[in-house]
Amino acid sequence: MRVSDSKIVAKLAELNVELQHSASLSDLTSLGIGGTTDLLRIKSHESLPDLLNLLDTNHVPHKFLGGGSNLLVGDGDLPWVVLQLVRSEPDVVLDGNLAHVDAAADLGRMITFCAKNDLGGMEGLIGVPGTVGGALRMNAGAYGMQIGTYVREVKVYRAASRKIEVLRDHQISFEYRHTSFAPDDMMLAVILELPSKPYKEILQGIRICNEKRRSSQPLGQKSAGCIFKNPPGVSAGRMIDELGLKRLSVGDAQVSDRHANFFVNAGHASAKDMQSLIADVRERVQKSFGVSLENEVVVWNA
Ligand code: EPU
Repeated sequence: MRVSDSKIVAKLAELNVELQHSASLSDLTSLGIGGTTDLLRIKSHESLPDLLNLLDTNHVPHKFLGGGSNLLVGDGDLPWVVLQLVRSEPDVVLDGNLAHVDAAADLGRMITFCAKNDLGGMEGLIGVPGTVGGALRMNAGAYGMQIGTYVREVKVYRAASRKIEVLRDHQISFEYRHTSFAPDDMMLAVILELPSKPYKEILQGIRICNEKRRSSQPLGQKSAGCIFKNPPGVSAGRMIDELGLKRLSVGDAQVSDRHANFFVNAGHASAKDMQSLIADVRERVQKSFGVSLENEVVVWNA
């Protein structure tokens, strides 16, 4: 979708929003899949309510993009524009055990920065690509921890009230790869309360998690992490593996040979290829195990 109305373009500049025409979502997602649309880069949180009003009044559909690491975007000319926050500088400010973090901050860099300041707890998420905002929205977790545990406060643009609100931890529910935020809420900033730990000790935890991840996940390949959520008490990856589906492919979309719940883009996979592979695997697991797998990856259909 192209924003060409000169009045809208002028207003975007006034709101301190950078307009980038025909951005390719394949360059903005870890799967390397997705068509093109206009990208609106937001430099100031405070302009969001006016920006969203502007888009709604002019019937411009939109979607919010975080780090693009858990996302499968449709092919071709996309029927909505994409909004993305520009990272503030500095993006992490520490105050005792509290870390004030910009939602656009890189998750891994945030964990390392806190670690160097003797703040731990997030070691399990080292190696997970994406932004802090994305991790927050999905309540990202690994190796027995989840980010929601450490959240004290979230600054969010709420689509329902069309306002920026600050929510305390007890006003948000964090479940397995799910939060009570609405799909069109936009994470802006978070305060995490992290336990004090000596850097050396945190580093040891980080090394162990890195090693586990390296040995079991296809880190060098284009993927969106795990495609399916784990149904209660079982591992989706193990079921897919037991069916002998590693390396199953549709075009260049392929079930990883390292971890069967990771589907990789082994070349120039299209969204259509990836969607067919997901549907095929889901059907086979349903047939053999009677289990209906739910997507973990977020899908933006064209
Ligand atoms: N397994 C297999 N074959 C496979 C994959 C896994 O037999 O191809 C077996 C493993 O050997 C292990 C069991 O299944 O006995 C569980 O595997 P793993 O420890 O890799 O964990 P998982 O349940 O597959 C979850 C998260 C990952 C997270 C890891 C580590 C989900 C959907 N996946 O995977 O998160 O990194 O635990 O904590 O919750 C993600 O969210 O994108 C993600 C990758």
